[in-house]
Amino acid sequence: MNRHLESRDILAFYLESGVDETIGEEPINRLDTKTLARPAAAVPVHAEPPALSPFPLSRPEPLPAAPSAHPIPAVPGRVLEVSSIEALGQALAAFDGCPLKKTATNLVFYDGNPKARIMFIGEAPGAEEDRHGNPFVGPSGKLLDQMLASIGLDRTNVLISNTVFWRPPGNRPPTTSEAAVCLPFVERLIELVDPLVIVALGGAAAKSLFATTESVGRLRGRWLPFSTAGLPRPIDATATFHPAYLLRSPAQKRGAWQDLLAIRKKLESFQ
Ligand code: URA
Repeated sequence: MNRHLESRDILAFYLESGVDETIGEEPINRLDTKTLARPAAAVPVHAEPPALSPFPLSRPEPLPAAPSAHPIPAVPGRVLEVSSIEALGQALAAFDGCPLKKTATNLVFYDGNPKARIMFIGEAPGAEEDRHGNPFVGPSGKLLDQMLASIGLDRTNVLISNTVFWRPPGNRPPTTSEAAVCLPFVERLIELVDPLVIVALGGAAAKSLFATTESVGRLRGRWLPFSTAGLPRPIDATATFHPAYLLRSPAQKRGAWQDLLAIRKKLESFQ
């Protein structure tokens, strides 16, 4: 789903993130080594998203698999051998192993581009997502769209999914076992998309994906190698605040903005 974002929405996100100075008509890429040499100045405020160089949808040559000092452990017992995202969706639709399916209206699989170079994984569908069968279409989704737009991304060049594919009743967090039973599907989705970057949105996603008990506060700003048995190489993964948390705690948007800049820098490092 690709929704139109008003320029003022993106501007609002910049302002709430503490970006409060306009310094020129043209955006400046401060991640460019040439512009880094310039004197420090505030990130420019623009009603339009920054002129991020377009992300080619074709993937670069795969990097050789590099063993990592601290790999995120692969989940053992992967059983899914489906070879397309469509087949994975069909497998999920036929899957009765997650109790959340019984109380949900719709399967919420993914949104965005299956050839995306970056994946965002949230916690669980909410009421609106359950109604529409699409992830992040409610208030958190609106903020997520603004966050993406602030670094020149949208749903045509990212893929968005969740740690569980059905809405937990009453929007409670998914249990550890609900997340565990869905994890092989999430992992297979990641393998089939094979992105360059994975971003866990919030603590629940980070816990499930990275098999960690560390909080988002501790994971933010770090890059971890995400591995599964079916990936040709570890994928650079990080975590940032969940948009729903940012809606409740707008002061943290400043930190989220720093995370977004780091994510953009990481993506640009692959160009
Ligand atoms: N929150 C999530 O974590 N996922 C959604 O799809 C919607 C809200």
